[in-house]
Amino acid sequence: MESPFDVLQIDAGADDETVEEAYRRRVMEAHPDQGGSIAEFRAVRTAYETLQAGYDPDAEPESGDRDSAARQQRARSTVTYLNYDVLGDFGWQVDDADLFEKAAASDLDRVDYGEFEVDPGETLLEGAETAGYAWPFACRGGACANCAVMLVDGELSMPVNHVLPAEMMERNIRLCCNGMPITDELKVVYNLKHMPELEDLLLPPRPFEQAHPND
Ligand code: FES
Repeated sequence: MESPFDVLQIDAGADDETVEEAYRRRVMEAHPDQGGSIAEFRAVRTAYETLQAGYDPDAEPESGDRDSAARQQRARSTVTYLNYDVLGDFGWQVDDADLFEKAAASDLDRVDYGEFEVDPGETLLEGAETAGYAWPFACRGGACANCAVMLVDGELSMPVNHVLPAEMMERNIRLCCNGMPITDELKVVYNLKHMPELEDLLLPPRPFEQAHPND
């Protein structure tokens, strides 16, 4: 099994600063949108998290770790979601550090807060639909912000984006109609189309969009 230092392409025992720099570089190189693969991206994330947790090169690998790359490649992703529409009701902000902890403690309806799994190869929107939810969308082709979500944790690949400017990407806003989970777990705020900054990027929903229970 490759050591986490090998995965990050740095010398064994490299200091924290070197690990951070290598992680930022490798996570870009391995990102599926940049020519990498989901397996490689997950391996880089796992290597970084292993080093963060205090890697002991002499420790015997736990049996569960031995096939981690193969397991990650076929693993489903668990998505925890929160509806942007309920934030105003509670006086929450989308960038509150404890947003999901507050949501978990608030007895929200399942349509507004909960969890579902996404199969490998499925987009986040398809995963939501498979789970029975009608999340907003319009074009399904990367040309509007109707399907926008904000990533609070985890990452989506996003092969097609003709609409989100760089500053929105930096705020972790993504398009769920073509974004596929590339981490084991995600936390997302969906229904972001109601965020005022996205208003100019929306397409008229019909005839494309399904009715959303909270519209
Ligand atoms: Fe238009 Fe996703 S629905 S970009």
